This record gives sequence, structure tokens and C-alpha cells, in this order.
Amino acid sequence: MSYPTTPSGHREILFNAFDMNCVVHQSPGLWRHPEDRARDYNTLAYWTHIARTLENGLFDGLFIADVLGPYDVFGASPEAALRSGAQIPLQDPFLLVSAMAAVTENLGFGITAGTAYEHPYAFSRRLGTLDHLTGGRVGWNVVTGYLPSAAQNMGQEDQMEHDQRYDHADEYMDVVYKLLEGSWEDDAVVADKESGVFTDPTKVHRIEHQGEYFKTPGIGVVEPSPQRMPVVYQAGASSRGRAFAGKHAEAVFINPPTKELAQASVQRIRRAVADAGRDPYDVRIFAMQTIVTGPDSTSAQAKYDDLTRYVDAEGGLVLMSGWMGIDLSHFDLDQPIGEVESNAIQSTVETFQKASGREDEVWTVRQLAEWVGVGGFGPVIIGDGPTVAQQLIEWQEETDIDGFNLAYHITPGTFEDIVEYVVPELQGLGRYKTAYTPGTLRNKLFGQGDHLAETHHGARFQLRRSQLTGG
Ligand SMILES: Cc1cc2nc3c(=O)[nH]c(=O)nc-3n(C[C@H](O)[C@H](O)[C@H](O)COP(=O)(O)O)c2cc1C
Repeated sequence: MSYPTTPSGHREILFNAFDMNCVVHQSPGLWRHPEDRARDYNTLAYWTHIARTLENGLFDGLFIADVLGPYDVFGASPEAALRSGAQIPLQDPFLLVSAMAAVTENLGFGITAGTAYEHPYAFSRRLGTLDHLTGGRVGWNVVTGYLPSAAQNMGQEDQMEHDQRYDHADEYMDVVYKLLEGSWEDDAVVADKESGVFTDPTKVHRIEHQGEYFKTPGIGVVEPSPQRMPVVYQAGASSRGRAFAGKHAEAVFINPPTKELAQASVQRIRRAVADAGRDPYDVRIFAMQTIVTGPDSTSAQAKYDDLTRYVDAEGGLVLMSGWMGIDLSHFDLDQPIGEVESNAIQSTVETFQKASGREDEVWTVRQLAEWVGVGGFGPVIIGDGPTVAQQLIEWQEETDIDGFNLAYHITPGTFEDIVEYVVPELQGLGRYKTAYTPGTLRNKLFGQGDHLAETHHGARFQLRRSQLTGG
């Protein structure tokens, strides 16, 4: 397999929108902008509007991030997170999806759920249910969690060690595969009104899972859904995380601020997929990107300048503290980064300086927070539709990514602008679809049917007639 191409023979660029069921996802302070509607995150009207907008722009998916617990690394307290709204208040991502599925026909949904706190037996039922209700348009972004606060509030002293979290997640995945792929035969449901048999009990099998972390002997409870196992998304950056992605992921999210870093990251991920015995292009890689666009380049730049007036520097540091696991509250906002004694922070800033083209300036902690304040850790492209389209094409050609995970600065304005100004340009250049591929999310992404590829680890749990008959 390779990557998808458009009718003109060009490599297709895929688009995912990046959102979260909260007010401040990646851009702290911007909820104060007069045009921002993030405050409506707790209404269905906000989410159904987003879903319709994305489907009008032929987006492949909406990716909903999630964490469980407050960002309390900054100042060892949730106070600053609460004040700035940085990913708190925060609601459940799963409950949004049915409503959005009801007003769309093709948009995919990548929902984040952690493997640390909920038993895979209960979780797999929710996943399978949504695969039914969306007609097979669901993906699961598998995360192992990074906030100690989440673990503590779930009654654990702390998170498991980093690599152990992935070992635990490996077993979690197997339980979910077994329940969704390996318990019910395709034709187990007969729904025969004559005989009164709804499900043929000989075609529903116990999974007999006895592992180190989980014991699940019985049968699954969800009948086979369009995709069975929903599309698996992942975003691990460490070598253990990449090995996990190589084995399980069908889509991977990365957030490198520069093309050089992106290219290296893509190569490592494709190698990890190949190491797991799969085709390196059996995974779709999405790089995070923030786009500020408008009818012309002057208005796009003016829009960006206006956005920066609303950035909440402290909120930016709250998010960064959580992501990096370093308490940034000890630093004076106007301290030059050169004086900050942390290698992790200095190298992060160097990368951002490179990404922004402002390598010669002396950055302060405030400038770092302000850079992060418009779209988080990912790069920002500012310009009219043709400029943005050209830069996206260059990103893809130079890095071998499949598409972009588009963060918002203000919502839904960011997505409406992309649909209005960027999508038609990419279509005109033959780089973006002009119609959806029919079928499930997996078929839309890979064009090879609804189910896990045969070489995917999860496929070994699929029921095969030969196994069942002993032949
Ligand atoms: C674009 C992107 C989105 C992510 N979204 C989430 C998320 O919603 N929830 C979460 O707990 N972790 C999220 N992560 C973090 C990853 O799951 C992972 O913990 C992180 O990349 C570190 O990887 P490592 O543990 O392999 O070092 C995200 C990472 C990236 C790059």
C-alpha cells in the first residue's frame, strides 16, 4: 500500500480538526476574543455546527483530545489552570459524538481515551456502541496519560512508570481486540422471528483472557459493528511509544514545530510500523498545524496580530508545565530564556525560535508563553489561501506526512476560514479530495475495506472459520 492520491495523480493532503471538550484547548486567553465561541463548548449547538462545517470542507476527521485531571504541575496547584481555563472545566469527549454523527454522513471522529483508569471490558462496549451509532466512523486515540493528578484522583499514588504504562496499554489493547474482533462471529445475529432466535449462541465465544493486568474470561456484549475495532490513533513520542504505535496505530499525531523534526519523526514512525511487520504506509501521519488565514495576506497578518493581544501568558505556562512535567511558575515572565537553568526549556525555545524565523531575538519566558498561546506547540502558518496551500504542500513533500491536525486559535472561526480559503486552493491544485470516499472511516483513510489490515496485530484475534471448525 502507499498513500492516497487525487484524480490528478497528486498525493492527497488529509485534514483533521483538533478540539477538546473545554474552553481552552491549545490557545490560552483567546476565549476572550470577541469572535470566539469556545465558551459554548458545553452545548450541542457548538459541536453540531463544528461537525457540519468540517464536513462541508471534506475534513477526514474531528480529533477530540482528552485528559483526566487538572493541569496542576504549574505552582503545584490547579489554581492557575482554573483561572485561565486551561483544559478545565473539561467534559467527556464520547458524549458529543452521537449528536455530531446525526448531522453528518462522512466525517470521522477520533476520540481520546486513556488506558489507565477504565477497565477494557466496559470501555470496549462504549467504543463498539459508537461504531454502530456512527455507521463505522469512529477512531480511538489511545493514550496512556501524562498528568499525575489524574492518577491520584483515581485512587493511585502516582502514574505507573512510563514504559510500564505502555506494557499495560498493550494488554489493554489485546482485551479490546478480543472482545470486538474475537467474540462474535459475523453471522452470530440471526434475528429470526420464526424460530425466535435472536443470536445463535454457538457463534459467540468466550475470550478467556488471563493476563498480567486483566482477567476477562467471558463473551463480549456488543454485536459486530461496521468496523469491529475502530481505527486506532496514537501520539507516542518516546521509543517505547513508537514501538506501541508501530504495533497498533493506523493514524499517528505528531507536533514538531519544524519540517526537519517532522521528517525525522515520520521516518522513525514508518520504521516502527515496518518493524512490526506492516507496510510503512499502513499508518496515516498527521502533523499539528495552526493556520491563520483570510481573503488576503495583509488581513491574515492583521488577524494574527490581533490574536496575540488576547494571549494569556500564564495560561500558556500552565499547559507547558503539564506537557513537559516541569513547574514553570518559578520563572519570572521577563527573564531571558538564556538565564533559565533547564536544558529541556532551552532546547524547546530554540526549536520555536527556528520555527518562527526569530532566531536572532533574545526570548523571554513571556515570549515563549505567547508563542505557545496561539495554537500550542505546533507551527503557525499565516497567509492567504494560496500561501497557506503552498506551505502545506511543501510540508508534505519535505516530510512525508499524510496530512495535518489543525488546531484552532479561535473557534469555530479557524475552521470556517480554512474551509473558505484553503480547501478550495488545495482542490484547485489537485491536492485535496473533491468528494468523500464512501464507507467507514477506515475505508476512507485506506480504501481497503472496513476491517483491520491482515498484517495488523489486532487481526490475529479475528475469528476465522478455519479456527472455529478446527480445520
Ligand atoms: C498531537 C498530540 C495530541 C495528543 N493528545 C493527547 C490527549 O488528548 N490526551 C493525552 O493524554 N495525551 C495526548 N498526547 C500525548 C501522547 O499521548 C503522549 O503521551 C506524548 O506524545 C508522549 O509520548 P511518550 O509517552 O511516548 O513519550 C498527545 C500528543 C500529541 C503529539
